[in-house]
Amino acid sequence: MNVDFDILLEQAQAAAEQAYAPYSGYRVGAALLCGDGSVVTGCNVENASLSLTICAERNAVFNAVNQGKREFLALAIYVDSDEIFPPCGACRQVLAEFNPRLPILYANRLGSIFSDLETLLPQAFTLSEQ
Ligand code: THU
Repeated sequence: MNVDFDILLEQAQAAAEQAYAPYSGYRVGAALLCGDGSVVTGCNVENASLSLTICAERNAVFNAVNQGKREFLALAIYVDSDEIFPPCGACRQVLAEFNPRLPILYANRLGSIFSDLETLLPQAFTLSEQ
């Protein structure tokens, strides 16, 4: 399937508008292209206890799995900031569960960086034989 990252990024940007980020101020959105061609999104949801905060990427994965989707073809991440960051380590591990080679575009207000999960998380933890 040909991935239109421009559209995927727009969906991540729209998801970031739903972010609940009163503590950090970083509004993050993630858009996951699924094997059936659908797109499932997630935003970060913070909590006063801070450590209970969940990232946009994991929310997108968990939303998708809840909808019966487990095949992921691409991910776009948007943070409404001048800073830019790739997915955190916890999200990388969760994403690797479903596609260790997932293409990932991460972006902010100023631009974007293209990468993939193999680069961001080499030698991911797995219980299956390699
Ligand atoms: N955050 C994400 O949503 N994804 C990441 O990969 C890194 C961090 C969120 C969590 C928190 O709400 C805010 O960004 C600052 O860490």
